[in-house]
Amino acid sequence: MTFNSLKIEPIKIIHLSQVIDIWLYQYKESIASGLLIPPSWLTNVSSLRDFIRTHINEKKGVIARSGDAIVGFFLFDSFMFHDEKTAFSPIIGHTSFPFYKELVYKKIYQYLSAKWIEEGILNHLITFFSHDHLLKDLLYEFGFGLYGVDAFRSTDSISLSDGNLTILEADMNHINDLIRLEKEACHFFKQAPLFLVSSPNNLDYYKNIFENNTKTIFLAKVNNEVVGFITIGKNDEEDITLLADQNTGMITGTFIQPEHRGFGIGNCLLQRCVEWSQKRDLDRIHVDFESANLLANRFWLKHFTPVLYSVKRKVNQDIIQI
Ligand SMILES: CC(C)(COP(=O)(O)OP(=O)(O)OC[C@H]1O[C@@H](n2cnc3c(N)ncnc32)[C@H](O)[C@@H]1OP(=O)(O)O)[C@@H](O)C(=O)NCCC(=O)NCCS
Repeated sequence: MTFNSLKIEPIKIIHLSQVIDIWLYQYKESIASGLLIPPSWLTNVSSLRDFIRTHINEKKGVIARSGDAIVGFFLFDSFMFHDEKTAFSPIIGHTSFPFYKELVYKKIYQYLSAKWIEEGILNHLITFFSHDHLLKDLLYEFGFGLYGVDAFRSTDSISLSDGNLTILEADMNHINDLIRLEKEACHFFKQAPLFLVSSPNNLDYYKNIFENNTKTIFLAKVNNEVVGFITIGKNDEEDITLLADQNTGMITGTFIQPEHRGFGIGNCLLQRCVEWSQKRDLDRIHVDFESANLLANRFWLKHFTPVLYSVKRKVNQDIIQI
């Protein structure tokens, strides 16, 4: 097969079942290769089908065809991401049979990026499996760089060093401590080399956690002072774009004050999340983080295995002035 013989066409409803089959084929292969991902998505295909159908209706995707056979597809969303027009394809938005992969992605990206630039979308974001070295190298050649990591771990306990520390479950009495730490966390995220602007959670966010027994926040207290927290919840609504099914515990935030870092408090908070997940018979825990967050990278990668990489490319601004 050559670059020219591969055809890129808008995806249509008649392609739905073939596209689902290709996605499931690669998901099965990914499980077989040892990737720590929920097998439930192999049988629970309704979210995948809905996602593909919506993108077909919205005309946000293409297939790659070799002769009569569909050999790959690519679906995307477009939205404002940190104030920039962005096109994003999540893990369920694209794949290709291995034999065709290089040509398929080259041709599809050439085709779609032309359309995105016409619409002034300079920011391109793609999530792919961490073991997909071919795609990683290809996207690197296109100018993409790592932005975010989604990682999973089992609910096996982690070993802890002894420490003079109290871990407790937060309730409404701890709101002021949590709001104080959240503000510090947002300040930390803004610093180099992360430069991430985020907003602190509001009172309703905490009320929702405390009124809902599928979520909790553990606090770390040193000398009677709350110095850090971690938030975990059972996945109420499964989210296939993160590959997180209902048996997944989701860590959605953690922060420890700078002077208390590096003493094992993070490990202790994480171990409480593990115990919380074991009690609820969860199969795995998910976390995501920005790769430019040096502390998070170092900490999470000690305990979790990356499963998804999200990469971003920013096309030169002056192209839209031509
Ligand atoms: C990520 C974070 C929660 C880790 O908490 P922590 O209490 O420092 O973690 P621990 O001390 O349990 O573990 C940190 C590891 O780094 C090592 N370390 C050594 N010096 C360190 C330092 N100055 N800072 C951080 N870690 C250090 C520790 O020894 C430990 O390694 P080990 O498990 O092999 O002993 C903390 O760094 C933090 O609050 N970062 C800012 C907020 C953030 O990034 N949140 C995550 C968002 S996704």
